[in-house]
Amino acid sequence: MPKQKTFIMLKPDILKRGLMGTIISRIEDKGYQIERAQIMDLDKQMIAHHYAHLLDEDFYPKLEAYMLSGPVFAMVVTGENVITGMRQLIGATDPNEAESGTIRADFAKNVTENAIHGSDTEENAAIEITRFFNSYE
Ligand code: TYD
Repeated sequence: MPKQKTFIMLKPDILKRGLMGTIISRIEDKGYQIERAQIMDLDKQMIAHHYAHLLDEDFYPKLEAYMLSGPVFAMVVTGENVITGMRQLIGATDPNEAESGTIRADFAKNVTENAIHGSDTEENAAIEITRFFNSYE
C-alpha cells in the first residue's frame, strides 16, 4: 500500500480542554507523520463547505455553533493506508457507538462534540486538504 495523505481536524473542545498533545501522540504512536498543521478559526462559509452533505439536517445549527466555538487544529497526516487507519483510530461518529480505545470513545462528549474529523476517501482528503491549506502538495 503506497503512502497516502488525509485531512485531520481536532475540533474546538479538544483545544479548550488541553487535549491536543494527547491526540497528536496517538496519531504519532500509530506511526503516522504530521506533514502540515495550523490552528485556525473557521467561519460559517468554511463550515458549510466542509459539512455540505449535512446542511439540511436538523442538527446542523448545533454542529455549526460547535465548530464556531473556538479554533480548530487542522493537519495533513501521512502514512501507509492512513485514511482507513485514521478512521479506525477515530472511531464511530457517535462516541456511544465507538469501539473502546478509539479517540471518540475516550474523548468525545457526544455525537456533535465528537472531538476529531478524518477524511473518509482519497478524493475527499484531496478536496479537504486543498480547502484548508489552499494547496494539495
Ligand atoms: P458524518 O460525516 O456523518 O460523520 P463523521 O464525522 O464520522 O465522518 O458527520 C459529520 C459531523 O456531523 C459529525 O462528526 C458530527 C456531526 N453530526 C451531528 O452533530 N449529529 C449527528 O447525528 C450526526 C450523524 C453527525
